[in-house]
Amino acid sequence: MRTIDWVDGAITLVDQTRLPGELTYLRITTVADLIDAIQRLAVRGAPALGVAGAMGVALAARTGEPIAPLRAARPTAVNLAWGVDQAAASADPLARALEIRDEDIAACLAMGARGADLLAEHAATRVMTVCNTGGLATVERGTALGVIQTMHERGVLAEALALETRPLLQGARLTAWELARMGAPHRLIVDSAGPFLLARGAADAVLIGADRIAANGDTANKIGSYSLALGARRAGVPFLVIAPETTIDLATPTGDAIHIEDRGAAEVVSLGGVKIAPDGTQALNPAFDVTPADLITAIVTDRRVIRLDRGETP
Ligand code: MRU
Repeated sequence: MRTIDWVDGAITLVDQTRLPGELTYLRITTVADLIDAIQRLAVRGAPALGVAGAMGVALAARTGEPIAPLRAARPTAVNLAWGVDQAAASADPLARALEIRDEDIAACLAMGARGADLLAEHAATRVMTVCNTGGLATVERGTALGVIQTMHERGVLAEALALETRPLLQGARLTAWELARMGAPHRLIVDSAGPFLLARGAADAVLIGADRIAANGDTANKIGSYSLALGARRAGVPFLVIAPETTIDLATPTGDAIHIEDRGAAEVVSLGGVKIAPDGTQALNPAFDVTPADLITAIVTDRRVIRLDRGETP
């Protein structure tokens, strides 16, 4: 399955707001519609946003729309701005966008193999993950979930534990859907169960993706990643970040400088469209958190393993 592609002069993407109920595609022909799709998470996940940004520049070349609002449509994942900049700097934005699409497919295959090799060294067969880092967050095959897919294909995956990922439930709606399609053994857990289940020995490793990795290794990823990192450290299990080189942002020195998107109260005070808090309840809704580098065992990219636990940095 291609999560995002360029078909007959338009961007075609899986409408992730409709999953797991329906697998439907959107055909996007304007930058304005692309920004809307990005902001309501019809397309999401850092690598997929990179491809969307680059393809959006190709659309803009046809429609004459400005690209600055696209570049800023979501602030935390560096890949979106990166993809826009890459295509904008190219004489042929569409050709560059298609290259980025193909590079993502190859990068995910490489990360899957390298990550599964590293987990084999740790004799890890039961893994825990948060959010959705699968094919739906990339073009075809995922980052952290790509590693889990490779483990499954190698016949060494005993179980994947997926956090549901409040408030938008990417784990429940998307990761559980992808794991079921793979035929991989998995169970869903509520977010707050993660650290406790690690303490009880329920997983041998935690695998997450990343939205932006600072120069010192601090890593922004879906809210809930930091508490899993704390739980992994306490339980003594490896905590691995799986992300392409394009998610490393050397211009950002540490995690403190990463802009964390706050998506507003509505997603917190309601669930699946049903209000769950009293009228007028205020809420904080950071969509991402930052895991400090010293809680990360290693970052696995498409080119290398960066052993933060041995003092290496990106
Ligand atoms: O808000 P989302 O769903 O776009 O958040 C996605 C994540 O946090 C992913 O873990 C990250 O983008 C890496 S995807 C391979």
